Amino acid sequence: MKDYLIALTGVPGTGKTVLARHLSKQAQLGFTTLSWVVLEHGAWSSYDAARRSFIVDPEKLCGSMRRRYSRGYIVETHWLGVFEECGLEPDAIIVTRTHPLVLYQRLVRRGWPKSKVVENVEAEFLGVIVQDVISSQYKTVTVLEVDTSNADPETLSGRVYEAVLSRRIPADFSCCRDWLELLTPKEQEILLNILSTTT
Ligand SMILES: Nc1ncnc2c1ncn2[C@@H]1O[C@H](COP(=O)(O)OP(=O)(O)O)[C@@H](O)[C@H]1O
Ligand SMILES: [Mg+2]
Repeated sequence: MKDYLIALTGVPGTGKTVLARHLSKQAQLGFTTLSWVVLEHGAWSSYDAARRSFIVDPEKLCGSMRRRYSRGYIVETHWLGVFEECGLEPDAIIVTRTHPLVLYQRLVRRGWPKSKVVENVEAEFLGVIVQDVISSQYKTVTVLEVDTSNADPETLSGRVYEAVLSRRIPADFSCCRDWLELLTPKEQEILLNILSTTT
């Protein structure tokens, strides 16, 4: 698997970095995040102070992606479209998912402002990132949805490794969860309270 390119995406706090750390060891792949590539190679054109984010220069970014990260890497990103933009085809797309109430606890523990916590819990609940995966043009790529709500990271990573390599997707890794269907009425009520406390 040394020459694979793996796209790793998911809402913040859903376990991308933890999974990548294990998987990169098991699969002998490098690991980087898209933000790091942008900063390392100065692949931005300006800085939006209000949103505290860099405005990406796609030409510079794609140059760096193609030169350094087109093979042998796990690339963590919130912007799955970067691969299409840069003409790269990942061998697998992995999307991490987390039960919204578990995610809420994780993000609160990070000490994030309430509004940022709520925004991300809502994004996970609505499956915002999963929509990008569904609409991505790579119909032949292995897509895995990995639920990290309550799983031993090393075991999970081993299973992901096996699935990517064999291209056989176990039922619990098949895309895509609908939390609305999976949450109990009580959990829905708690979640609704969380989501309606700030706007
Ligand atoms: N497989 C897992 N099982 C249980 N908890 C996990 C798992 N993966 C991650 N976590 C928890 O979630 C937290 C956030 O994970 P992290 O990898 O930093 O998320 P991300 O990179 O998506 O923001 C970790 O600190 C850990 O406590
Ligand atoms: Mg991370």
